[in-house]
Amino acid sequence: MENSTETKLQQRMGRRLVLFPLPFQGHLNPMLQLANIMHARGFSITIIHTHFNSPNPSNYPHFTFHSIPDGLLESQVSFSDAIALIGLLNINCVAPFQDCLSRLLLQTSEEPVACLVTDYLWHFTQAVANSLKLSRIVLRTNSAASSLAFAALLSLHERGCLSIKGPQLESPVPEIPPLKVKDLPKINTRDEEVFYQQIASAFREGRASSGIICNSFEGLEESELSRLHEHFRVPIFAIGPFQKYFSSSSSSLLAHDQSSITWLDKQAHRSVIYVSFGSIVEMDETEFLEMAFGLANSEQPFLWVVRPGLVRGSEWLESLPKGFLEMMSGRGHIVKWASQQEVLAHPATGGFWTHCGWNSTLESICEGVPMICLPGFGDQRVNARYASEVWKVGFLLENGWERGEIERTIRRLMAEEEGQERRRRVMHLKEMVNLSVKPGGSSHRSLERFVAQLL
Ligand code: UDX
Repeated sequence: MENSTETKLQQRMGRRLVLFPLPFQGHLNPMLQLANIMHARGFSITIIHTHFNSPNPSNYPHFTFHSIPDGLLESQVSFSDAIALIGLLNINCVAPFQDCLSRLLLQTSEEPVACLVTDYLWHFTQAVANSLKLSRIVLRTNSAASSLAFAALLSLHERGCLSIKGPQLESPVPEIPPLKVKDLPKINTRDEEVFYQQIASAFREGRASSGIICNSFEGLEESELSRLHEHFRVPIFAIGPFQKYFSSSSSSLLAHDQSSITWLDKQAHRSVIYVSFGSIVEMDETEFLEMAFGLANSEQPFLWVVRPGLVRGSEWLESLPKGFLEMMSGRGHIVKWASQQEVLAHPATGGFWTHCGWNSTLESICEGVPMICLPGFGDQRVNARYASEVWKVGFLLENGWERGEIERTIRRLMAEEEGQERRRRVMHLKEMVNLSVKPGGSSHRSLERFVAQLL
């Protein structure tokens, strides 16, 4: 018995995975967490990455890194049109990626490559993998529910059913309950057709792949995952949440301000609302001020991440009223970037006001922190609706940035019985996460299945 385990381990040691993350914070984090998970399973890891938003290799001395030129000009790097940027990357990186991967496959001194794992938004990589006779596994960094919503959105677009405005935005979308028309994962971009082509490519290339890894777990999205399987008809491995295995802090592109933790250390148990909108959401000055007054009027302590670039046209905090923080007399703390998982795990953190990026949503669930949801665009809208109406672990701000509703909702979450009920539900999900990653749990079994497929 021991001998056969040893042989299996040796076989694993002889395998190499090549991973190609999309260079956005919300995509780098899960890919590098997956790399750590697979490394812990005995695989050696090679990361191919763009120059733009390159991960820091010194945080991963156990991996091999290869950088490829992405041809991006400084003027082209803008998150205000992420779809255009993804489109450009998918054109510029074809030849450098193909060259790099071909060279890696020829290296006889290295272990043989078992497969290529790429982000689902690297559309061109399936064709490259086919040409090199290498199997490709896709990492979907979003929820299964939002993947289904993207499929429904594409189908509505193709049937010409999307010119809906006004009160109709509140209507349900029958194909994907409980989503409303306003929850469809639209993303603003200068050429809408490109957006729909990207959704179609992700589905087409996913169906041509050897399997799909989802950063999710059955306890949360069982029926969505099985419907996703019907869409793709390739093996689906729901092995998440990755954040339960490894923190995302080593792939952070910005430096963490450690004053978040020292400030939290001085606050009462579960008293603080942590506020962060991830790495790419932007807002205008009016929205920012509604946020500031909502927080101030709630009279709850808050830790607020204001990322440089969060407020369009502002460097950082210039649009806040003069003396805003002083007026809070220590009740508020603002940083440019925090160590989010550490903040969510801190005993003083009682709630998370989030844009519902998928990583943030999972991190909140893993730490048992209830949410206030204010999605920006795309999959965030679906996650927000699910968090508030399906999993019932948060409250959705239906009217967007409106100080009165913000103030009431913070109180509702932090100080009222309804908020306590949401906390109990998220604590229950946290327990389910813990069970799912243990031997015998659904994510653990999916990971075993994935490793078996690779071998
Ligand atoms: C984007 C999309 O918005 C998201 O919906 C999609 O699923 C992935 O890509 P982003 O907007 O950055 O990501 O949000 P999110 O998915 O939540 O990822 C943000 C990451 O940055 C999280 O892992 C979070 O821990 C980290 N973070 C955020 C920090 O480390 N510090 C901070 O101060 C804020």
